[in-house]
Amino acid sequence: MKKVTIIYWSGTGNTEMMAQAVKEGAEQGNTVKLLRVEDATQQDVAAADAVAFGCPSMGSEMLEEGYMEPFVASLQDVDFSGKTVALFGSYDWGDGQWMREWADRMKGYGANVIGEGLTIQLTPDADGLQECKALGATLGK
Ligand SMILES: Cc1cc2nc3c(=O)[nH]c(=O)nc-3n(C[C@H](O)[C@H](O)[C@H](O)COP(=O)(O)O)c2cc1C
Repeated sequence: MKKVTIIYWSGTGNTEMMAQAVKEGAEQGNTVKLLRVEDATQQDVAAADAVAFGCPSMGSEMLEEGYMEPFVASLQDVDFSGKTVALFGSYDWGDGQWMREWADRMKGYGANVIGEGLTIQLTPDADGLQECKALGATLGK
């Protein structure tokens, strides 16, 4: 059994839908905690075997600046060795630059990032939610 923690920010609910589906996928045989970034601490990350972070593309291809950006910045002090990390988020008009930069940043912290991050345009459809569940399942293995 693994401890999986999912931490996300969502303004209009699209990334929140993704987070719920990642949770469903991760649940099989694991302990899963789903937290808004507003309620999360570094300790939630440090105590988990696997962590998923979700944030839409905001600003101009940036993480949300009020909560997610400072939280991610604070993670440079966390020991990521042996931890699997998944990234996900919704976007609209961009080409996924925010996610590429976020994945590189997490790799720089020593995290073992699954793939390149799961991006979905606006509201996830049934296929998109399935991809989120599959990501959760990978995270929980
Ligand atoms: C202030 C603001 C800035 C945004 N900037 C970008 C952007 O740079 N690139 C992009 O692809 N989408 C951008 N978007 C679109 C959001 O990523 C998109 O609406 C997403 O579905 C929001 O996810 P949420 O429902 O989880 O908040 C922006 C949206 C807002 C409100």
